[in-house]
Amino acid sequence: MYLSRFLSLHALWVTVSSMMQHYPSVWGHYDVCKTQIYTEEGKVWDYMACQPEARDMIKYVRVTLDPPDITCGDPPETFCAMGNPYMCNNECDASTQELAHPPELMFDLEGRHPSTFWQSTTWKDYPKPLHVNITLSWNKTIELTDNIVITFESGRPDQMILEKSLDYGRTWQPYQYYATDCLDAFHMDPKSVKDLSQHTVLEIICTEEYSTGYMTNSKIIHFEIKDRFAFFAGPRLHNMASLYGQLDTTKKLRDFFTITDLRIRLLRPATGEIYVDEQHLARYFYAISDIRVYGRCKCNLHATGCKEENKRLLCECEHNTTGPDCGKCKKNYQGRPWSPGSYLPIPKGTANICIPSISSIGNPPKFDRIWPNISSLEVSKPNQVAPKLSMTTVSSVQVANHKRDCECFGHSNRCSYIELLNTVICVSCKHNTRGQHCELCRLGYFRNASAELDDENVCIDCYCNPFGSVHDRCNDRGFCECKEGASGPKCDKCLPGYIWHSLGCQPNVCDNELLHCQNGGTCINNVRCQCPPAYTGILCEKLKCERDPGGCSQSSAQGAMSHCPLLLLMALLGAAGVHMC
Ligand SMILES: *[C@@H]1O[C@H](CO)[C@@H](O)[C@H](O)[C@H]1NC(C)=O
Ligand SMILES: *[C@@H]1O[C@H](CO)[C@@H](O)[C@H](O)[C@H]1NC(C)=O
Ligand SMILES: *[C@@H]1O[C@H](CO)[C@@H](O)[C@H](O)[C@H]1NC(C)=O
Ligand SMILES: *[C@@H]1O[C@H](CO)[C@@H](O)[C@H](O)[C@H]1NC(C)=O
Ligand SMILES: *[C@@H]1O[C@H](CO)[C@@H](O)[C@H](O)[C@H]1NC(C)=O
Repeated sequence: MYLSRFLSLHALWVTVSSMMQHYPSVWGHYDVCKTQIYTEEGKVWDYMACQPEARDMIKYVRVTLDPPDITCGDPPETFCAMGNPYMCNNECDASTQELAHPPELMFDLEGRHPSTFWQSTTWKDYPKPLHVNITLSWNKTIELTDNIVITFESGRPDQMILEKSLDYGRTWQPYQYYATDCLDAFHMDPKSVKDLSQHTVLEIICTEEYSTGYMTNSKIIHFEIKDRFAFFAGPRLHNMASLYGQLDTTKKLRDFFTITDLRIRLLRPATGEIYVDEQHLARYFYAISDIRVYGRCKCNLHATGCKEENKRLLCECEHNTTGPDCGKCKKNYQGRPWSPGSYLPIPKGTANICIPSISSIGNPPKFDRIWPNISSLEVSKPNQVAPKLSMTTVSSVQVANHKRDCECFGHSNRCSYIELLNTVICVSCKHNTRGQHCELCRLGYFRNASAELDDENVCIDCYCNPFGSVHDRCNDRGFCECKEGASGPKCDKCLPGYIWHSLGCQPNVCDNELLHCQNGGTCINNVRCQCPPAYTGILCEKLKCERDPGGCSQSSAQGAMSHCPLLLLMALLGAAGVHMC
C-alpha cells in the first residue's frame, strides 16, 4: 500500500517534470545522484540529493537472544496448545528438524501452513519472570520507511518493550511500550498513536491496542511508522514533500525514524487472564513467526546504491563522499566542510557535493586537529628541514613571510612550516576564514556561493538564532540546525503548534485544533486556558472538587463521576466520603 502510494507520487512527478522542465524522469524520488544536462557551456553534470530505495531490511539482520539458551527444545520439552491447557502433547525438540523452533524461523518466508516460528522455553520457573531480549542488529544506520510488524504465533505478550539504538547497541532508548494494562505494567497512561499530533509525534507511548489477549485471532503488533509520517504527509501520505521538508529541518524527527539496532524485550507472556494457571505452566511461552522491518540505508542523501559486502550494508557514496553512511568528504575533496544533502528544494533537493581541496601539500584533516598548536610551532628554519624535502617546499619556507608566497587567498600574509607534517600552513586567517590555506569558513560562518575564495566576503555569518538553534553552526546554504519546534533557515520561527517565548519555541498549551480547552474554557494566547469557575487543570479538564466538596459529590455527582475515575472506582468499591478527583 505504502509502496504503491510512493510509486504513484513518483509517477506524478515524472509527468510534471518531464512536461515542464525536461528533467530526468526520476527526479523527486531522489533516486539519481547526478545527470548530464545541456547548458550554454555544453554537456555538464548536474548533481542532486539522492537516496537508496526502501527495502526489506530483515535480509541483512543479525539476531541475538538473551538469555542465549532461551530457545525451547534443549532438553526437549512438551508444551500446551495455544489457548487449550488440556492439549499438552506438543513437543519442542531442538535435535529434530520438524520439532525445532530456532530463531531463524522468525525471518524465513511465511505464507506456508503450518507457519514456522521461533519459540522460547515455557514459564516453568514461575513466579520468576520469563524475560527474553531479541536484539536485531544491522551494523549500519537505517531509516525506517514502514511499520515494524511482529507476528506472534501464540498470544501476544502481556508486557513488552520495543527499544532502539542509534549507536550500534551502545545505548538504548525505548521506542514503544506494549501491555494489556499500561498503568499496571509501566505506570503509564495508555495511548494510541492516533492520540498524538505533529508536535507530540516524538512522544514515547504505552499502547494497549495490541494486547487483546490470548484467545483472539489477531497475533500482530505494529510500531506505527506510517501513522507518524501521516501527521506531516497527510492521511494517505500524499504529501511526502511536506514530510521531507520537515525531516530536513528537524534533526530530532529524522533521528526518531533512524536506527542501527532494535530490541524486542519480552517481559511477560500472554496469560489471557489475570491469574497464572500454576497447574499448567506449559501454556505460557513466547513464539514469533515473523518480523518485518522496511527501511533504507541512511546515506545522508549522497547515494542511491547500498550494497552488501561481507554481510554488511554499505552506501555506494557519490558526490565525492565516503564512509559507511557517506558521512565525510573523500580525501582531496575537502574544499569545504562536509554536509548532508538536502531534500529541499523539492523535488530536486540540494546535493552539497564535496569539492576538491585547494591544497597541493599536506593533509587537511590531520592539519585541522593540530591547529591549536600552530602558533607554538611557528618556525621557519630551513636548516632544520629534513633532507627529503622537495625544493618547492623549501623555497616556500624560506620566503614564508612574504605575502605573495603564502597561499592564503589573501586572508593572511603569514604562514608557517610544520616540520612534523612537512607542510606549510597559513596562520591568523582573517575575514572569518580558517584552514591550511584559509580556504574554509570558521565555525558559525558559511561559504558565500557568489564570492571567490579570495573575496573578503567569502564567509557569511550564520546568524543562527541562539534560542531556536541547536548550535551556532549552519550548513553551506546558511541553514541552522533547529531545536524542537523551531523552523526557518535561522531557526527564528516556530512550527505550527508552537509559540515563541523568551527562550525559543514552546509547545502550545492550548489551541483551536488539537489542544482544545475543555468544559467551556477559553484559550488565551495559546499559553493557558481560562476555565469556568467550577473547573481547573491545564485544559480545564478537572472539576474543582477539593474547594467545593459538596458540589463534587452531591449536586453534580453524575457529572463528577465521568471526570473522576478514582471517585467512580471508590464509589464502586463502596468507599464513602471521598472528595477528591
Ligand atoms: C535485556 O535488555 C535490558 C536492557 O535493554 C537489560 O537490562 C536486560 O538485562 C537484558 N536481558 C534480559 C534477559 O532481560
Ligand atoms: C561492523 O562494521 C565494522 C566496519 O565498519 C566492522 O569492523 C565490524 O566488525 C562490524 N561488526 C560486526 C558485529 O559485524
Ligand atoms: C568527484 O568530483 C569531480 C568533480 O568535482 C567529478 O569529476 C568526479 O566524477 C567526482 N568523483 C566521484 C567519484 O563522484
Ligand atoms: C599541543 O602540544 C602539546 C605538547 O606540545 C600537547 O601536549 C597537546 O596535546 C597539544 N594540543 C593539541 C590540541 O594538539
Ligand atoms: C557575497 O559575496 C558577494 C561578492 O563579493 C557580495 O557582493 C555579497 O554581499 C556577499 N554576500 C553576503 C551576504 O555577504
